[in-house]
Amino acid sequence: MTDGSQAHKTLFCQSFIETHRQFEPAELPWPALDAVSIDRLRSIPFWSVALAAEKNAGVMVTRYARTVTDPQIREALAMQGVEETRHGRLLEEMLAFYGIDVAPVPAQSDDFSERAFLDFGYEECIDSFLGMGIFGLARQIQLFVPELTDIFDIVMLEEARHVTFFVIWIAYERIRRGRGASFFTAVSTGLGYARAVKRIVTTFAPGAKDAPKTQGVGFGAEGAFAIFDDITWRNFLQSCVSEQERYMSAMPSDLLVPSVLPAIAKLMLRLPSLPSVLRRAEPIRTAA
Ligand SMILES: [Fe+2]
Ligand SMILES: [Fe+2]
Repeated sequence: MTDGSQAHKTLFCQSFIETHRQFEPAELPWPALDAVSIDRLRSIPFWSVALAAEKNAGVMVTRYARTVTDPQIREALAMQGVEETRHGRLLEEMLAFYGIDVAPVPAQSDDFSERAFLDFGYEECIDSFLGMGIFGLARQIQLFVPELTDIFDIVMLEEARHVTFFVIWIAYERIRRGRGASFFTAVSTGLGYARAVKRIVTTFAPGAKDAPKTQGVGFGAEGAFAIFDDITWRNFLQSCVSEQERYMSAMPSDLLVPSVLPAIAKLMLRLPSLPSVLRRAEPIRTAA
């Protein structure tokens, strides 16, 4: 938990900064893949969206960080901007290394306000939760060679750090602004997730007029259903929950970690059958 104190702010900012890993995407040990593995990688439908999302996230977080007056929070957010920018370069490196072409990256948002960062943060919480589930399923069926899975793990661990920092920062800011009471927190968190879900649903709805989603992690649930055979919402949610717990176990034990989405997912998993709106997603598409 956070008590809104300077000491706790120093703890969560320093924890974030000290766990930053130094590496360059071009220097990672990209494994040689056979033609079948490269085709499998190429057939994954979300690389273009993921690349756009990471590049835009790099710009948005970096620009927002410059507007933050608190030097410790500014330094931590600037570090997140460095990591998001590097995620974009990592994806570009991977796509180039395996000769995979993707559609051009859409134009970036020019809104770097706190409201835009909050929207980004909640959307990142959703996207990283789903993305962890997808990569957990990929690991289970050994969709990628272990060396490539290890590289994706670096990205997912950094996303886990980002959402952990986000939920602590927002709790800290609420207390600092006199809105730390549990009622206000519950309402603000609910609204934050509702705005993120609305934007994701609006973006991916058939015939949506909005620009493609380009700010979060870029892995939606649609990614899971596009990749795996015989997946159900139940085993996808189970993977999201167990993988999120796995990544969060790597966070310092004295830090608050995201809990809203795992709690909702666990509640849904306790239902004898998932709601019909989810069941309609089955039968599952066959991977290319
Ligand atoms: Fe990222
Ligand atoms: Fe991130």
